[in-house]
Amino acid sequence: MSDSSNQQWGGRFSEGVDAFVARFTASIDFDRRLYRHDIQGSMAHARMLQKSDIISQDELNAIVGGLDSILNDIENDNIDWSIELEDIHMNIEARLTDRIGDAGKKLHTGRSRNDQVATDIRLWLRDEIDTIDGQLARFQEGLLGLAEKNADTIMPGFTHLQTAQPVTFGHHLMAWFEMMVRDRERLQDCRKRLNVSPLGAAALAGTTFPIDREFTAKELGFDRPTRNSLDSVSDRDFAIEFCSAGALIMTHLSRMSEELVLWTSAQFNFIDLPDRFCTGSSIMPQKKNPDVPELVRGKTGRVNGHLVSLLTLMKSQPLAYNKDNQEDKEPLFDTADTLKDCLRAFADMIPHIEAKKESMYEAAKRGFSTATDLADYLVRQGMPFRNAHEVVGKAVAYGLKTGKDLSEMSLEELKVFSETIEQDVFDVLTLEGSVAARDHIGGTAPRQVLFAVEQAKMKLL
Ligand code: ARG
Repeated sequence: MSDSSNQQWGGRFSEGVDAFVARFTASIDFDRRLYRHDIQGSMAHARMLQKSDIISQDELNAIVGGLDSILNDIENDNIDWSIELEDIHMNIEARLTDRIGDAGKKLHTGRSRNDQVATDIRLWLRDEIDTIDGQLARFQEGLLGLAEKNADTIMPGFTHLQTAQPVTFGHHLMAWFEMMVRDRERLQDCRKRLNVSPLGAAALAGTTFPIDREFTAKELGFDRPTRNSLDSVSDRDFAIEFCSAGALIMTHLSRMSEELVLWTSAQFNFIDLPDRFCTGSSIMPQKKNPDVPELVRGKTGRVNGHLVSLLTLMKSQPLAYNKDNQEDKEPLFDTADTLKDCLRAFADMIPHIEAKKESMYEAAKRGFSTATDLADYLVRQGMPFRNAHEVVGKAVAYGLKTGKDLSEMSLEELKVFSETIEQDVFDVLTLEGSVAARDHIGGTAPRQVLFAVEQAKMKLL
């Protein structure tokens, strides 16, 4: 388009836009996915214009009918998007005028693309948040089922990835569940703040027309109109908040992925993932690779990257709208898409994890995982904890030398370290005794895991 001017803003121009510049400045290739929300916003705006006597009832009918037919064409893939028309907003508006004539030209009264795009993104993101929240809930449901099934499945608990104390697998899964609880709260918090209507802020200062901002806000399901027109068209902090909540979701999924990858390895051998979530190797016939969790772990990088993109995009922008903000969309879209894919993968996969109980149990027996239990036993007999720590340390050293776990030593052997040790020590040296003894809110005892699952189920419903 080099010899004609843009029909939407060509009035003051004497030559058309350079073809490269047209492509460079256009966003239609990616912002067209806002079409539904753009039309939704335009309809609300048009209704408000009619109600405020700025356009007639006939003009409103023509606009609504025209927008409906455009929506229909887009959904049937029956539309030619134009780079010359830059973005989704001008593409739709130009189509509207083509179809209904002069009434179409009135739609943009009292509005600017600046408040229009800010409205569209909020509407779009609100829907995405609701979808993502639903997926998080589905994932949580799967976790609860698996945790309940494994409330008394014993595995080693780790600190520094070294065997620390025995825990139950159900308890471990409920730790994941808690991460998801906070992730959902963060999304809801973000939703609350983004759910305000920028419509009416117009280009930056508001409009001279007698508009009704409360009306459009209500029409679009927003809680209220925004309070400051300059802020409304310029800040994308709500998108940043979403990406930040998204980055944390991905961080959590990535931690879980890391554990799944470790647990499926021959060295850990704690779980089995269904074949349909794994792939083989083209050269090594024995391989079954945990590709899905690995890919989720890998995709965390791009979401973290999008967060940094948006922070950087915003950091030097003077009030009010700047074209920089057009760059908000691709990171935002990709964040939502990545979250939906990864959460879907987890929600599908998690309920089908098979715990290899014997192997977990054997692993928990290695590494002196009940050493703290022996120390606690001595403390209950009156020994100060620091002394007990020392005594058990010596017993562990003896175990390392002789290749025996604490529970495999005889009473005589144990008595060498402390005279007061009696037969009942073996109740606390078993893995079952160890986990059952941690029987308080938030502890790993099977009873507590079942309690946590019950509580969580009640909240999920
Ligand atoms: N495509 C633009 C965006 O994404 C819409 C707003 C353009 N406004 C303007 N004054 N150029 O931000």
